[in-house]
Amino acid sequence: MAVEISKGVYWVGAVDWGIRKFHGYELSTHRGSSYNAYLIVDEKVALIDTVWEPFSDRLLDNIREIVDPSKIDYVVANHAEMDHSGALPEVIRIATNATLITSKRGLESIPGHFHQNWNIHAVSNGEHLPLGSSELLFIDAPMLHWPDSMFTYLSGRNILMPNDAFGQHYAAAFRFNDEVDQEELYEEALKYYANILTPFSDLVLKKIDELLSLQIPVDIIAPSHGVIWRKDPLKIVKNYQEWARQIPQKGAVILYDTMWKATLRMAEAISGGLTVKGIPNKLIHLAASDRNDVIVEVFKAKAVIIGSPTLNSGILPTVAPMLEDFRGLKFKNKVGAAFGSYGWSDEAVDKIEEALSEAGIKVAAKSIKAKWQPDEAALDCCRQLGEELAEEIAR
Ligand code: FEO
Repeated sequence: MAVEISKGVYWVGAVDWGIRKFHGYELSTHRGSSYNAYLIVDEKVALIDTVWEPFSDRLLDNIREIVDPSKIDYVVANHAEMDHSGALPEVIRIATNATLITSKRGLESIPGHFHQNWNIHAVSNGEHLPLGSSELLFIDAPMLHWPDSMFTYLSGRNILMPNDAFGQHYAAAFRFNDEVDQEELYEEALKYYANILTPFSDLVLKKIDELLSLQIPVDIIAPSHGVIWRKDPLKIVKNYQEWARQIPQKGAVILYDTMWKATLRMAEAISGGLTVKGIPNKLIHLAASDRNDVIVEVFKAKAVIIGSPTLNSGILPTVAPMLEDFRGLKFKNKVGAAFGSYGWSDEAVDKIEEALSEAGIKVAAKSIKAKWQPDEAALDCCRQLGEELAEEIAR
């Protein structure tokens, strides 16, 4: 069902209640998601973004509630990823006179995905497109989160449509931020930031500064996932500024997996050392935890301490992917350490240390290896590691 979000502007997207893994790389979406597209009906008709291809019919049905889709003059593709551009072929097949608007980098990604001879106009940063009583303003937003990403602003209605930025993977019956559970909403907004935008944090800060310097009035921020920010819309912008600064909380997470509980006992001893010093900490068993939820916990904490026994001269396969995530996410302002038990050879801890350093996480305490099951001396070392890191965290 189309929903009017401002005079002549309609949400015409699709809510995907059932999706639990997203983005082709298995990002967990415990609360589903939505693919938001916006229809502007002025003297000209413009569609801002589409939806994932399986929801094409839903999009077209919603558009038909408002206007005949063949009357669409402009289709804006803010970003080529399939969750927003998947329905382009179906839309353009019907809207035969429409001009497809992309960013300059969209000239690479859109034809690269679809290989169609569409009528594409690539806009420049700051370019305007009059629609009648309102006009579109295009703002390049490279790496938020693809090189082709662009924000579209509707003047006259004061609506910023920033595509993936400020989104949440959050299916809801209602369309606006003031109509949903606030705790759930901000939990999902943070998870989205931590998992998708963390590596681009410097660019997020720069882009927000640029946006604010434009001094354009923003009454509504209408992202391409989740609910629309109409109540206090700049609050999520302030949240992004805070998240992008990556000032962690004074706390630690101990991520581990264990084969016969030796590495678990070490994790518990490290936790004991942190606790004695008053540092909040959590033990997270990676084999039993959702990877993307773990990333949120890591995002918030100052210290990340990782434990794995050695298996086949390396790290347990439940721990190794997390280190690959760290490499890509480029967390800032974190300290870490490694620990683990071993039997015949002891490579895992060294490899974890190496991975932490490669990810830009400062190894701030001597890592610990315990042969076979840790004895009291080894557990004491673990407690000391916790206490040592506690001092680093408290700084
Ligand atoms: Fe980058 Fe929502 O896709």
